[in-house]
Amino acid sequence: MAEDPVLDVQGLVVRYGAQTAVDGLSFSVRRGEIFGLLGPNGAGKTSTLSVIEGLRAPDAGRVIVDGHDAGHATSALKARLGVQLQASSFQAELRIEDITRLYAGLYGVPITRRQIDERLRDAGLAQEHGKPFKKLSGGQQQRFSLMVAMLHGPSILLLDEPTTGLDPQSRRQLWDRIEESRGAGGSVLLTTHSMEEAQAVCDRVAIMDHGRLLALGSPGSLVAEHRGDPRVLAVAHGDVTLEDVFIGLTGRTVRD
Ligand SMILES: Nc1ncnc2c1ncn2[C@@H]1O[C@H](COP(=O)(O)OP(=O)(O)OP(=O)(O)O)[C@@H](O)[C@H]1O
Ligand SMILES: [Mg+2]
Repeated sequence: MAEDPVLDVQGLVVRYGAQTAVDGLSFSVRRGEIFGLLGPNGAGKTSTLSVIEGLRAPDAGRVIVDGHDAGHATSALKARLGVQLQASSFQAELRIEDITRLYAGLYGVPITRRQIDERLRDAGLAQEHGKPFKKLSGGQQQRFSLMVAMLHGPSILLLDEPTTGLDPQSRRQLWDRIEESRGAGGSVLLTTHSMEEAQAVCDRVAIMDHGRLLALGSPGSLVAEHRGDPRVLAVAHGDVTLEDVFIGLTGRTVRD
């Protein structure tokens, strides 16, 4: 690869007691790339993100974010990461303009009143600036948390199931925003259960299960590579889709 990847995960292992949730996972995300981590419930996606975010130390392997080892959660590492916080992480009673100022301060990015208004307007929240976070709709909360995650111009955005629970309009708008951030040179690592979403926005995807990588490539190349696999053919209805590849490789069994 000509350029250093923005994120490099090598031989990652995450254990919870006797259980191995991530079992020697390796992949890397290129600069400017939208990368999807796909896998059934319990595959180890969120566990992988928690190490990248510096919330957990890896039990083995290493994670490098823009040249910084995620095993040492330094402020330099945090400055490079944009993490979309769960709604519950915000102070629900605070007005969203005040939350914006608060997080800009935490990230060390000076922000003026006018810039706050601009950010909120860009997120489609101009009318809501004086509302407390808890009074926003689900889609508005989601747009707001994405805006906050990008306040400091991170090298890579980490989005764990960013469109779960959104209506089709809000989902499309989020896809647009993700693509805009790529246009601005940003990289994105997202998880999703929607193969349609993976196909629509991801340059490359990794399919994982039981903590291990099963396949990696562009959605189109994965379909081309696996369309003759008997496990994939057995589940396909007509033309082979990314979902057929996903189910063919990970099996039909519903997880606990
Ligand atoms: N804090 C924890 N303590 C113990 N076990 C955990 C913990 N977090 C996750 N696990 C277990 O690790 C495995 C991987 O979980 P993880 O949350 O990483 O999966 P996931 O791919 O994000 O799944 P989902 O699609 O349901 O979000 C699961 O078996 C889960 O029960
Ligand atoms: Mg998860």
